[in-house]
Formats: sequence, structure tokens, C-alpha cells
Amino acid sequence: MDVANLRQQIPALKSSIYLNAGGIGPSPLPVTNALLRLANQVSEEGPDGMAFSREEFTRAKETRAKVARFLGAGDDEITLARSTAEGFDIVGHGLRWQAGDEVVFGGGDHPAARAIWAILARRHGIRPIRLDLRDDSPEAILEDARKLMTPRTRLVSISHVTSENGLRVPARELADLAHEHGAYLMLDGCQAVGQFPIDVHELGCDFYAAGAYKWLLSPFGTGFLWTRRELLPSIEPSWVGAGGTIGFDPETATWDPLPTGEKFEFGARYWPLVPAMGAAIDFVSSVGLGAIAARERDLVERMRERLRGRPGVIEFAPRCTSLRTGVVGAAVEGMTGADLAERLRARRTHLRANRGPGALTGVRLCLAFFVTEDEVDATADAIADIAAGR
Ligand SMILES: Cc1ncc(COP(=O)(O)O)c(C=O)c1O
Repeated sequence: MDVANLRQQIPALKSSIYLNAGGIGPSPLPVTNALLRLANQVSEEGPDGMAFSREEFTRAKETRAKVARFLGAGDDEITLARSTAEGFDIVGHGLRWQAGDEVVFGGGDHPAARAIWAILARRHGIRPIRLDLRDDSPEAILEDARKLMTPRTRLVSISHVTSENGLRVPARELADLAHEHGAYLMLDGCQAVGQFPIDVHELGCDFYAAGAYKWLLSPFGTGFLWTRRELLPSIEPSWVGAGGTIGFDPETATWDPLPTGEKFEFGARYWPLVPAMGAAIDFVSSVGLGAIAARERDLVERMRERLRGRPGVIEFAPRCTSLRTGVVGAAVEGMTGADLAERLRARRTHLRANRGPGALTGVRLCLAFFVTEDEVDATADAIADIAAGR
């Protein structure tokens, strides 16, 4: 991987050390240019080309196909969405629930994938049941999950990779467990897409929702939902408007949804974002997801090694190596994560505070493929300096 050349295409890396791909990823020039080109076209030609959703302007079909290829899915199974939560809301509100139905969710899940179950508990009396993730082995996670399954379990809903410490769950095994109990598996891929190759059929899940603006480097406000083809007819659209239909007769208000994932897309959208997401998928795919995963693993090990043994510095990551992704946590004894994050930001490092084991708080270091070895070393030195009171 030609990291130096790739970095040339990501302007935000010139002025800072960017360790927050798990928050919002810095877009490369081809992504920003796709957005700007269309924004300029709107400005120069007027916006009605966009309003009429001409394919040559919106590139919605082409982008849906790119998302599909990226996930190993069919074009018809993809919904273009604005965020992860939109995918969870589509599925959560679209399934039919009975009081007492159970949803097993991950203790580390983001509100984007969690809030919906609280709403449905109030509205339909479903029971959200929390699975806290142990980090010692995939088997430990499965053992705990198995204990929570009952004949009332309808869905297991969990982060493919968690926000706080980048723990990657054993998705295939969770899918098998859910299916053994007649339940579905829905994954939140927001922290996963762009970190390693994803094939929804290998994962065996039923729904996969993700925002594309983190490790995948697409603009903020982009994302997608994948729904297994056979399940599309059973998910009724809850939010509707113009679009997503075969036909709408205003006289009779006959409303026929499309049979595809496009049936969940409705209303006015800022279409230039869509081809920009396509450009991000192209960029990251051309770097290679396998190579990205391997590089992130190396950077994580390097960071851990550089932090280990420094007085007053604690590093943390999931204990089991196979559960790790491109994230390491670092804390300084006697200092909150928020303070440490503030001090590192003052040294022009983008990152955010996170929680470590127990009551420990620290900072989350997201080591995306574009981070250099020198930046890893400089960050470890900066944390050691702060711990030493310098
Ligand atoms: C695991 C996970 N899911 C979802 C989100 C964000 O959700 P949304 O795209 O709906 O804003 C985040 C953001 O931090 C996240 O870490």
C-alpha cells in the first residue's frame, strides 16, 4: 500500500494527526470533488435537474450497485440512507411486533442502534434484553448470548464493531444462534465498513445498517441498509412520500411500494451526497479492504507496544486478539479521558475520549490505514509526555 500517495489525496492529514476515523472519517479528494462538482452543477444549471432525480445527476442506481458489490449483495436489497439509525428505524418500525417479543441488544451499542428498541418497548411492549460483551473470547460472547435466547426472541441486534473499543463480534456464530431460535440478526456496521471486507452472506445476518462517514470516508449524512431479499416483502415502509413506489394514484391514494430496498427511500434528499458515497466506496475498495485490515492490525500492535511500560500510561484493547480491530485505548493515571483528549487536541491530534475497563476513561485511538508509523510513535510519545507532567 502506497500510504504516502494515498495521504496526498486526503487534505485533512496535512495539518493534523487524524485518529478519529471512528468518529467522522476525513474524505479524500475524489469524494469531495464528486460533491462539489454536483453542487456547482446545481448552482449553474439550477436545482430542478436534481429535483427530477435524473439518474445522470443523482447516480442513485450506480451507487446502489456499488454498495451492493461492497457488501456482496444484490442491488435490489440496498436502501440508500442518511445514517445508521435510519436503517434501524426502517427495520424496527417495519417489522410487526407483539407484546412480549424480545430483542437481544449489545451492551456497547450506540444509541443509533439502541433507541428504537426503547421506543418499541413503549409502543408495542417488546422486551429489550441486554447482552454485555465479554472481551476474553468469541466463545464467551456466544455463551452469554445463548443464555439470553428464549422462544420469544425475535431479533438479535448488535454492533458488528463497537464504538468504544472496536470489539468485533463473532457475527456468523451470532447469526446461526439467532436462526436456531427462529430469530433474525441485525448488525450495526457503522464502525465496521471500511475496516475490513464484508460479505453479508458470509456473515449470515438478515439486516445490515451502516453510516458510511467513518472508516469508509464518505461525507457525513450518508449510509445504507441491506435487507435480505426474502425479508423485503415483510418490512412495511413506515415513512413514505414521493419516491419508492411503482405508482401512486392521488385520486384513490393507491400506493404500491417498489419490491426492492428502494421502497424505503422517499422525499427530498441532497442527491450530490449519493455519488460522493459511491466515490468513497471506490477509493477505499481501490486501497483494498484486506490490505487495510492487515495494516490496521499492525498499527494497533505498534501503538500498544509503544505505549506499554511508559510510566503512568495504560493501554487497553479487547483482550482476545481475534476480537480486535483498528482501535486502541490509552489512559493516563489520575487524569480523565476528557482531559487527556483535550491535551492531545491541543497538539493537533483528532480523537475523542472513551471508556476503558471498569471506571477507567481514556482516549480512543483509531488507527486507520492512512495513519503513519511516525504518527503512531509521536502520539505514544505525546501521551507519555503528558503522563510525565510535561
Ligand atoms: C457503532 C455505531 N453505530 C452508529 C453510529 C452513528 O449512527 P448514525 O449514523 O445514525 O448517526 C456510531 C457513531 O458513533 C457508532 O459508533
